[in-house]
Amino acid sequence: MKRLSLRLAAAGLLGLGLLAAAPVTAAEQVPPPRASWSFSGMFGLYDRAQLQRGFQVYKEVCAACHGIGLVSFRNLSQPGGPGFTDPQAAAIAADWLHKVREIGDDGQPAERTPRLADRIPGPFANVKAAEAAHGGKAPPDLSLMAKARSYERGFPWFVFDIFTMYQEQGADYLKAFLTGYEEGHETPPGTNYNKYYPGNFVSMPNVLQDGQVAYTDGTPQTARQYASDVTAFLMWTAEPHLEARKRIGFQVLAFLLLLFFLVYFTKKKVWSRLEGHA
Ligand code: HEC
Repeated sequence: MKRLSLRLAAAGLLGLGLLAAAPVTAAEQVPPPRASWSFSGMFGLYDRAQLQRGFQVYKEVCAACHGIGLVSFRNLSQPGGPGFTDPQAAAIAADWLHKVREIGDDGQPAERTPRLADRIPGPFANVKAAEAAHGGKAPPDLSLMAKARSYERGFPWFVFDIFTMYQEQGADYLKAFLTGYEEGHETPPGTNYNKYYPGNFVSMPNVLQDGQVAYTDGTPQTARQYASDVTAFLMWTAEPHLEARKRIGFQVLAFLLLLFFLVYFTKKKVWSRLEGHA
């Protein structure tokens, strides 16, 4: 037994050593700084006001180029989300900036005003139209972007991340990307320099300027704040059930703890009748 555990320990140490010595293969990229998020950690929840502001930034800035096609207007009033009321979500649908594209009764492409049940329509009818409007690079759908993007944290951080429950790499990248534009670099035509974008040359321009979106709740109107808010909103679109997931996870752990004590004391009681067993 002792030998086996010694061997296991040796194998573990060797494994760690190999991991530490593994060559870095990822492309050169400045790692995004860690931001603080209301939804991080075991008990982290979305900040409703922040999600609403983030939606406002998405609508007023990003929706000109990007869709969030997996989200419906009715989701905006769902529990665990930005917390709009049903009438508010219906009003948002009714004066949305893009129309729903469908096939009309005559079989021809037609447009109509969105309703609560519709997916949020994006700016383009299809990817080809999006590419044509943006010099060959289609602005990607942002519904799942906060989960689709990540970066290598490297050893030993990814070990610590398991214990600190760090899962916000995607959000940190988005915020850094939105605020990572720099002037004064040579760039290929049609691209801009972004410190955090892999390869640095991105065709999306720097879209967030201080004072551009008018907040009504007194939150500072800075580009950094807009970036945080829209990132939080995109985190919600990517993981709308985060709050339920964390709540259920905690309930399961509490239940297991209770079960442990029940089983333990039951065992003690049953075995107490036999001599020599406590
Ligand atoms: C003028 C049009 C335009 C606007 C406005 C715009 N984008 Fe983009 N965005 C693009 C294009 C084009 C790309 C594709 C870039 C590429 O592939 O080089 C892109 C790419 C992205 C990416 C992907 C980056 C990556 O890692 O691949 C994200 C994230 C993004 N945009 C977020 C946003 C957010 C959030 C907003 C609103 C604050 C926004 N964009 C506003 C045009 C736009």
